[in-house]
Amino acid sequence: MASPKITVIGLGYLGATHAAAMAELGFEVLGLDVVPEKMRKLEQGHAPMFEPGLEELLRSHVAGVEGSSGRLRFTDSWEEIGAFGDVHFVCVNTPQKHGEYGCDMSYVDSAVESLAPHLHGPALVVGKSTVPVGSAARLAARIAELAPAGAEAELAWNPEFLREGFAVQDTLHPDRIVVGVAGPRGEALLREVYATPVAEGTPFLVTDFPTAELVKTAANSFLATKISFINAMAEICEAADGDVVKLAEAIGHDDRIGRKFLRAGIGFGGGCLPKDLRAFMARAGELGASEALTFLREIDSINMRRRAQMVEMAREALGGALLGKRIAVLGATFKPDSDDVRDSPALNVAGQLHLQGAQVTVYDPKGMENARAVFPTLGYADSALDAVRGADVVLHLTEWAEFKELDPAALGDVASSRHILDGRNTLDPVPWRKAGWTFRALGRPTL
Ligand code: UDX
Repeated sequence: MASPKITVIGLGYLGATHAAAMAELGFEVLGLDVVPEKMRKLEQGHAPMFEPGLEELLRSHVAGVEGSSGRLRFTDSWEEIGAFGDVHFVCVNTPQKHGEYGCDMSYVDSAVESLAPHLHGPALVVGKSTVPVGSAARLAARIAELAPAGAEAELAWNPEFLREGFAVQDTLHPDRIVVGVAGPRGEALLREVYATPVAEGTPFLVTDFPTAELVKTAANSFLATKISFINAMAEICEAADGDVVKLAEAIGHDDRIGRKFLRAGIGFGGGCLPKDLRAFMARAGELGASEALTFLREIDSINMRRRAQMVEMAREALGGALLGKRIAVLGATFKPDSDDVRDSPALNVAGQLHLQGAQVTVYDPKGMENARAVFPTLGYADSALDAVRGADVVLHLTEWAEFKELDPAALGDVASSRHILDGRNTLDPVPWRKAGWTFRALGRPTL
């Protein structure tokens, strides 16, 4: 039997990576995005965002790029998508609704509305976007109404767990594959699509629709809870003069707790964790189960408090006033190895300091363009050294590898005062203190 032909709808962090990975696994892939500039970049073999390894993978497969397999192509025609695919992956984003906790389903809805009328034969539509539980059942009914193929057009839900910065690796070698299906045909097709990772030992879990949808939001809620737990411990350490870094290491040795996701600092951000928590609470409310998730409100509050605490720490380091003070901010993205500044704690702190009258200069290895678009009134420098020049205090807010390599003596020569605050707990205080810097970090003792 010929291997299934695949389409990918929505070519952001998730979709662009998924499309390239499917081509890498040997499938013929056709991608569609409603943003023409994104498609144009992809057609040239360029990634629409910074993601390690993605550009190389695209160049190996995008048709027209010299030496590529030619298995990955793009189109803006829904008709072509419908005629081409046996399996259609829906990878569009589901942002937080403006002014509400709930998630904005308009991109998913419009993808399904555009695709379904072009399904004339057997087809499997596979949702990968993170959606409120209950969406798959609703979308399955909509496909049944709209698709000329009738019952031959089915839906499955296959949540995605990729981390930015590791998207390629997580997509090619996932730690689990979860598929919510309506029947054996969907399962069989997805087993075929994921035959390679499954043969490598990746667990393949088959569930119903609601469970598959919930796996994603439950996993993200658990990760957020771990981070906010250790950040709550950081608050206690600050009050009691304890060291949260040592505390995390010590409790992490208990393998029931584990060491991962216990790094205290300015907290979580990005396009997933914050909005997924809020959408989950909103959905629980609609289901009459809001009490089950009231704790997530506290997880969110702890997380947001850390940003405010960072601002207070900067104010203290500057003798109590921010007005007119020069602040260097190292890092703008929500995490290293990404250019994503969506709900970035680093940029949020930089913005708060600026709005309170400080002169803030930001440097980030990959996030400058996106940061500038969101916050054009901040100052931007071309290097860490330039950002630090003349600064009264330096804030380390995204843990890029290059910041670990900085030379405290060289930065000390250009700074106005030697004060550094580590908002990510990844810098080694010893060399900084040796070079004459006052080094402070969230949740750690002053000296
Ligand atoms: C997350 C999930 O990890 C992924 O499985 C899901 O598919 C999408 O959402 P991502 O948004 O890429 O992935 O970021 P993640 O690596 O989870 O980090 C989220 C935030 O938490 C970052 O701002 C990071 O700096 C912060 N973080 C992480 C901490 O503050 N402390 C930690 O110990 C770990």
